[in-house]
Amino acid sequence: MRTVQVRLSSDSYQIHIGSGLLEQTIQRLTEIGVSGKLVIITNPLVNKLYGQSLEQTLASNGFEVTTLEVPDGEEHKSLDTAGRLFQELSNAYAERTTPILALGGGVIGDLAGFVAATYQRGVPLVQIPTTLLAQVDSSIGGKVAVNHGQLKNNIGAFYQPRVVITDTGTLKTLDTGEFNNGLAEVIKSAVVRDAEFFAFIEENLDNIKSLDTDALEEVVFRSAKIKAEIVEKDEKDLGLRSILNYGHTVGHAIETASDFKTTHGEAVAIGMLVAGRISQRLGIMDKNELSRLKAVIARAGLPTSMPELNTERIIEAMRHDKKIAQGKIRFVLPRKIGEVFITDEVSPRLLEEVLAG
Ligand SMILES: NC(=O)c1ccc[n+]([C@@H]2O[C@H](COP(=O)([O-])OP(=O)(O)OC[C@H]3O[C@@H](n4cnc5c(N)ncnc54)[C@H](O)[C@@H]3O)[C@@H](O)[C@H]2O)c1
Repeated sequence: MRTVQVRLSSDSYQIHIGSGLLEQTIQRLTEIGVSGKLVIITNPLVNKLYGQSLEQTLASNGFEVTTLEVPDGEEHKSLDTAGRLFQELSNAYAERTTPILALGGGVIGDLAGFVAATYQRGVPLVQIPTTLLAQVDSSIGGKVAVNHGQLKNNIGAFYQPRVVITDTGTLKTLDTGEFNNGLAEVIKSAVVRDAEFFAFIEENLDNIKSLDTDALEEVVFRSAKIKAEIVEKDEKDLGLRSILNYGHTVGHAIETASDFKTTHGEAVAIGMLVAGRISQRLGIMDKNELSRLKAVIARAGLPTSMPELNTERIIEAMRHDKKIAQGKIRFVLPRKIGEVFITDEVSPRLLEEVLAG
């Protein structure tokens, strides 16, 4: 087991990472003083795979467990679902001290986290992420939210978990597309902060893709550490934390312009390369570094070229993105692998040319 410490001014917590960690849930809960009544929020798929046996183990060790299921899918990360969960928590006599265990991917983590932040003004939250994206990204850093209207994650809070229990063994049941979504975020972490980690990915990508236990543990540990260090410096996303948007400005726009036919991971992969090409055209990123990035993305099974989309529609979608500052699109560009910078000085012409390939 590896442990990442997240040190924040008000709440500090640990992220435990390892294969088979779900079996140690009781020990991890005991360490943070949890006993008695608790609630698991999950979805039917993850419940069947991992929730039911977790509930049984907890129940046979004296915990009083209520499991609440939410249907699978981003569309259920909503105020309506949260409202239903508040009622179900109340029906189960959940109190201010009753912890919520968020067992699932980023959708469950964000939704259950939002419910934990607001039910009775906040109950203890335990994140148990089961997708690669959730293990390396969404379970860390305390952003919890639901979608409302046309906007994603626009109703939410910063609410840190008491502990994160990351069982990398759960990734064995994840389908390849979902795994690749997480892999795009892993590559992103390395490019923004850690050239040595990028070299590790280059060397070990085949083992990572074949879900080798040690390689997976190392990759999740290093990615989680990078995210934790950034969050420690900028918990409320007022500065540094925005470097984690690398690949996402163009990525979100591609997702929107493709009517979500391009997945999040695919779009972020293309977005990272577009940002790299812009940086190269500005004379900042070296051509060889860009080639290394492209090679890793391709070997990861992610796309390296633009889908057939209208360039105008992509730019329009970027203008509607919330990461826009005073009408200018803000980019996170790589200076080199392991270092990025933020700029809103990319000319519309250069952007168009790079998007057009
Ligand atoms: N809070 C943050 O900082 C943050 C950061 C990035 C993304 N997000 C959010 O995360 C969400 C996306 O998360 P996601 O990519 O994990 O998607 P997801 O939660 O929808 O999970 C993807 C799919 O995998 C299934 N699944 C989960 N674990 C599994 C397992 N071990 N085996 C088999 N199937 C499994 C789920 O049921 C689902 O069908 C979005 O809502 C996004 O806004 C939040």
